[in-house]
Amino acid sequence: MPTRSGKADAPPRAERFRLHHLLAISDLKREDADHLLARAEPYVSFLEQKSKKLDALRGRTQINLFFESSTRTQASFELAGKRMGADVVNMSVRTSSVSKGETLIDTAATLNAMSPDLLVVRHPSSGAAALLARKVSCSVINAGDGQHEHPTQALLDAFTIRQRLGTLEGVEIAICGDVMHSRVARSNALLLTLLGASVRLVGPPTLMPADADRWGARVHHDMKSGIAGADVVMMLRLQTERMQGGYVPSAREFFWFYGLDEDKLKHAKPGALVMHPGPMNRGVEIDSAVADRVDVSLIERQVRMGVAIRMAVLEALAEHGANA
Ligand code: NCD
Repeated sequence: MPTRSGKADAPPRAERFRLHHLLAISDLKREDADHLLARAEPYVSFLEQKSKKLDALRGRTQINLFFESSTRTQASFELAGKRMGADVVNMSVRTSSVSKGETLIDTAATLNAMSPDLLVVRHPSSGAAALLARKVSCSVINAGDGQHEHPTQALLDAFTIRQRLGTLEGVEIAICGDVMHSRVARSNALLLTLLGASVRLVGPPTLMPADADRWGARVHHDMKSGIAGADVVMMLRLQTERMQGGYVPSAREFFWFYGLDEDKLKHAKPGALVMHPGPMNRGVEIDSAVADRVDVSLIERQVRMGVAIRMAVLEALAEHGANA
């Protein structure tokens, strides 16, 4: 927590985060999620100051290991680490699908030899972050593993909603579009329900995972009835890079049925908030006129809150880490 002098005070021992890694929202209990959200709170105003440097992670090494391209997540983790005073190393690794597993284990051994404290990993295979966590001695943060989970995105989304509405308890949230290929959707459905929100998943049957009913959410295939009365409409990118074959007839037709425009948004609660994890495909899952509406769109704010959440996550894990 930042003090007036700009230094970060470690919270008392009893308040230490329970987990050594942040791999999935499914590993979190309610108090773990509350802990991380509470920790991020002071960083929001801190990040509005001119000088944004703390020394909570001074002398610690954070490695960002990205096997998939990323703009905002990687930059957000890098900034968060630097603002906490850590030494941050970015590694972008291109990999062929055949050698993915092998590359991951080899890289883990190499990285482990450098004794990092925090390893932030993004990988196209589900379970990659958990596998890595078994091979290294430092804390591992999953920055997105295949279609599985993206826990810090869900934390920043929950944080952004809570900041705007004051609570998540009883809030109606519709997560819409390509649910099947979205790690963001899974992590969000799990976290938002854990925090007391009511979640609906909205999308065509071809883009709805078979186990969607086990995510604690209701499933809708019609966009207008799916978002009817919702407080928050969270749109997902059509993730064509994960699709083999035709899941949707065309981007145009997808937009017609599922793209969020002013007309469809009218079915949600008046003043309903609009979210998107980015990157957006304007005119595919969301219309620019809605995405850029300053009164209801939280899209830019999500990016801003991402840094505060990641500062909190890095700090919580580093305190608990093997090298702490
Ligand atoms: C998401 C991701 O990578 O899973 N983006 C992000 O982290 N901001 C969503 C997406 O790629 O569509």
